[in-house]
Amino acid sequence: MTILVTGGLGYIGSHTVVELLNNDFEVVIVDDLSNSERFILNNIQEITGKKPVFYPFDLRRKELLAQVFDAHQIDGCINFAASKAVGESQLKPVDYYENNLFSLINILQEFKTREISNFIFSSSCTVYGQADVMPIDENAPLKMPESVYGKTKQMGEQILIDFAKAYHRKISVLRYFNPIGAHPSGKLGELPIGVPDNLVPYVMQTAAGIREKLSIWGDNYPTQDGTAVRDYIYVVDLAKAHVAALKKLIEDTSAEAVVDTYNLGTGKGSSVLEVVKAFEKANNVEVPYKICSRREGDITIAYANPEKAERELNWKSETSLEESLRTVWEWQKYLNARNS
Ligand code: UD1
Repeated sequence: MTILVTGGLGYIGSHTVVELLNNDFEVVIVDDLSNSERFILNNIQEITGKKPVFYPFDLRRKELLAQVFDAHQIDGCINFAASKAVGESQLKPVDYYENNLFSLINILQEFKTREISNFIFSSSCTVYGQADVMPIDENAPLKMPESVYGKTKQMGEQILIDFAKAYHRKISVLRYFNPIGAHPSGKLGELPIGVPDNLVPYVMQTAAGIREKLSIWGDNYPTQDGTAVRDYIYVVDLAKAHVAALKKLIEDTSAEAVVDTYNLGTGKGSSVLEVVKAFEKANNVEVPYKICSRREGDITIAYANPEKAERELNWKSETSLEESLRTVWEWQKYLNARNS
């Protein structure tokens, strides 16, 4: 079976491509290299011994996308390609709506005319906003996210539900909590452009001396130590969930529409300070930090109830926070060696 992976050289995409290849899927990657680099393709080959087909273009180029569908018998798609910087999305809303939604719609047009099913969408726990009840299950009410990025995720979900129902197709919406970590080989990981916004890449760069100090955004939240709490999920565990979700869609041979939605997290909440301490312990390094005021738009606490994924996908997160953070440091060492 051949799976189109858009954004397949990106952070979660590249890890998922490895898992797909390890499970004997053929993979066709479309990635415009806007937030990824070509060497990742070689590293995927080094890890798996297989080289996926790769097309470097922007999914808004409809005519190029049609050529990919003409050239390959595509059986499904995992759609990672999207702009994802929360702050930037507020400054460039039209670009975010265009990039994230037009590319999704272009793929769905191909699916529609060619009668293809099996679509997996990268969504985010951001669709729940600050949920009222922890842990968060899939029935928690959706709240309009503050960021344009978050809104594109919520709109994307809605487009897909309407698509599945109207054309009797099968889709899986995966709502990620906070993905962290790198491949155990040390050859794949997150490549933040410029100054990282997300916590773990910033911690990594601070430990490496690239940044002077981590700013902890707020220590007066009503949590165990005053810092905000999130559910940090190891990226390889997350990648495996995509394969499980895809297999479930493929195995369902009924002609009915399928809309699966899963929260992908560990079920455990960790505070910012706990992450910093775990990173220091795992890697025997120091992470200097200062306490600052809260970051606008941040929520207090979010962690998943992952029981539905466990029950229906036979999947659960297996890797501890400390172990995940150890892989992050290995990745930084790889990047240091590459840049020297
Ligand atoms: C953010 C996005 C979310 C997106 C996710 C992708 C917002 C409001 N949400 O989630 O929509 O899906 O990234 O991974 O931006 N922190 C610091 N110092 C830092 C960086 C972060 O203290 O330098 C804290 C934050 O305040 C937060 C926690 O670390 O409490 C995690 O932050 P981050 O990694 O940016 O993820 P989220 O904000 O949860």
